[in-house]
This record gives sequence, structure tokens and C-alpha cells, in this order.
Amino acid sequence: MVRIDVALVPQEIEARNLNGITAIVIDVLRASTTIACAISNGCDEVIPTTSVEEAVEISRAYARGDYLLCGERKGEKIEGFDLGNSPLEYTADRVAGKKIIITTTNGTGAIRAAKGADDVIVGSFWNISAACDRAVALGRDILIVCAGEGRRFALEDAVCAGMMCERIASMVAVDESDGCVAARRLYASFRDGLEAAVASSEHARYLARIGFGDDVAAAVQADRVGVVPVLREGHIVRRAE
Ligand code: MLT
Repeated sequence: MVRIDVALVPQEIEARNLNGITAIVIDVLRASTTIACAISNGCDEVIPTTSVEEAVEISRAYARGDYLLCGERKGEKIEGFDLGNSPLEYTADRVAGKKIIITTTNGTGAIRAAKGADDVIVGSFWNISAACDRAVALGRDILIVCAGEGRRFALEDAVCAGMMCERIASMVAVDESDGCVAARRLYASFRDGLEAAVASSEHARYLARIGFGDDVAAAVQADRVGVVPVLREGHIVRRAE
């Protein structure tokens, strides 16, 4: 029996012992989708950071041609950085072979906060089957962490978490937490209109207003890639198939 829990906001994991847990961290809009895209398009690794200053400091350790400095604040590319946080920017010709040093408002911090788990998988609609398959294969209890928005509940992350719970429950016997039951119910209520549900979220509406509506439409596509980005000693790498 696998216990599945969903942290509907990231602060749920702050005081929690993550020993013996596989964590899947979701930030559908947009960090985990962007990371899945970058890893799928052959970047060397993704280094998640929690501030602009930290990202710049880390970049000093590498030759200029070897990395891209990436991320957003208020959804917009950070001044002087190479890329923002649009998954669609992370094309193979831009990212293949590069280190992606990235800071985002919520997502990269949520990934770092889960580092005490035995395994940390970066999950999204884009890699939902690959992420769930890997989490089940690891055989431990599973905690799905929603990055949320500004430390508040984010609809798009909870719906994706619900879809993950449903997939996992179809593969293995599960003991579901209240967070898991709630996320599954939410997903079930939106199942036939996922794109509209995600587009109706507060952050999606904000992104559309500042010109990133295409990212919102793209982020809801399930199984666009088959990669499993995993955190290893602070760096996100593609798990060897
Ligand atoms: C975040 O980490 O808060 C997001 O990925 C923000 C965004 O770029 O939409």
C-alpha cells in the first residue's frame, strides 16, 4: 500500500520530515513545465535558485558559453538574463548542452524546499505519465507538492496533482490523504475541460494579460514529453532511462 499525500501549498512541507518519501513538485505555470521542456530538449542540467543574486553568483563558476541565466519576476524575464520562464523559449537550439541556472518566484524555491525527500521529481502535465510511473517504481510513499502562487493555493497545480493521484491510484493500491482526496475531486470536476480550468486560474489570467497566453495553453498538454527531471545534490538532471 502506497500512501499518497498532496501538499496543496508548499509551506505544508516546511516542518515535515521527508525521509522515506518520493516528492513530486509541481508548478504548472510555469517553472516545472519549463524544466521538463529544457531537460527534454537536451540541456545539461537545471540549477534551481531562490534569488536573482544567487543565480548570478552561481553563474560565476562557469564559462560564459556553458550556461544560460534564466528566470522571471512578476512573470517577466529578469533584466540582463538570457531567457525568461516561458517553456516555449527553451528550444533545443538554445538549451542543448547548456546549464540552465534559473530562479522563479515560486517553483524553484518549492523544488529546493523538497530536497529532504529521498527522491525529488519535477512534475507537470507535460511529463505526467513519466513522473507518475517513476514515483510508483520507486516504491515509497509519495508526496505531491504544489508550488502555489505567492504561498497561496493555485488551481492549476491542484488540478494537476489530482490527475497524478488518479494515475497513481490506477497503478497501485493507495492510502489517500485528505489533500489527495480533495485534489482528485477537483480534477474530476474539471476533467472534461482541463484547458479552460487552467486558463481560468488567477495566475493564468495574469500571464495572459502580460502576453503569455500561449504558455498557459501549452502547459496543460499532458504527456508532451517523456522525461523525468530529478534533483541530485541541488541540480536537476534527466533521469537515465
Ligand atoms: C513561479 O515560479 O512562480 C512561476 O513559474 C511564475 C511564472 O513564470 O509564471
